[in-house]
Amino acid sequence: MKGGLGGSLPIVGTEVARSWDHLYIFLVALSLFFFILVVGGMIYFAIKYRAGRPGKTSYIEGNVPLEIAWTVVPTVLLLVIFAWGWFVYRKMVEAPPNSYEVRVIGKQWLWQFIYDDGRTTTGDLFVPVSKPVKLIMTSEDVLHSFFVPNFRVKQDVVPGLYTTVWFEATVTGKHHIFCAEYCGAAHSGMLGSVVVLNDEDWEAWKKGKPISLAGASEGAGPGGGATAAGSPAGAVDSLVAKGEILTKTKGCIACHSADGSQRIGPSYKGLFGHDVELADGSKVKADENYLRESIENPAAKVVKGFNPVMPVFKGQLSESEMAALIAYIKSVK
Ligand code: CUA
Repeated sequence: MKGGLGGSLPIVGTEVARSWDHLYIFLVALSLFFFILVVGGMIYFAIKYRAGRPGKTSYIEGNVPLEIAWTVVPTVLLLVIFAWGWFVYRKMVEAPPNSYEVRVIGKQWLWQFIYDDGRTTTGDLFVPVSKPVKLIMTSEDVLHSFFVPNFRVKQDVVPGLYTTVWFEATVTGKHHIFCAEYCGAAHSGMLGSVVVLNDEDWEAWKKGKPISLAGASEGAGPGGGATAAGSPAGAVDSLVAKGEILTKTKGCIACHSADGSQRIGPSYKGLFGHDVELADGSKVKADENYLRESIENPAAKVVKGFNPVMPVFKGQLSESEMAALIAYIKSVK
């Protein structure tokens, strides 16, 4: 197995996992060094200057070089740990722009995944190997935390908000997903797997073919192989198409155009990823969380030049509808 530190760490399923392991091993080694230095010194002096021994130690008032050393050395070490951690953290949180996006909904007590073709799976997340995958996550009820030990990635999943995490899996097969935030009675049973497929299996899965993963489960824990599940492709609309239908059934298009034309509300065209000027003169970037807030509570950030007339949609859309709607708005370039 490719586990670090004599196999006591989980297998290394991503590049960032390797980076975390190096930092972790450094911290353990550093702690071990100072533990031996301090405890070893303590034991040595306790024996050497034990009670009943003849003679007395000289009285020491201070030692400037020593005091400088024990101030400067730990300071430098802590700064190195901080910089190193910051470097790896940035690598972990900043998804490449070409990432394959999957929507994740956490709820008591399961994980649900929504793909760009509109398919959903529960428990198992299917992803291609050696391609960056970005998860856009939210919760339907309480706080959860999405944790894949083999990938060394963990991120809180929060109701009413989108958080993201990304990874580029290097080992095909199944990798455990845990919920790492206590979320109620069956928290410990809120499990799943990232199923990393090779190019051939991924193409087959995208086309909705059933694929057998027996023998492809190098990263698997107990359980081993899996059969790719999920609703068949083609039987459902893509996520973007679902969102577009929702703009009609929920009445959005009465006020918001997709072609840039002016109606009562701002157009979707070219909105996502750009700065929006608000009525109070401030600017906000149109990302997933901005769109969500503007749908649920439109009065929170009113766009300059428009009146706050949109009704509140909080509680009127399910999380999967919200995901589809935002995916559609995002697609209107
Ligand atoms: Cu969900 Cu713990």
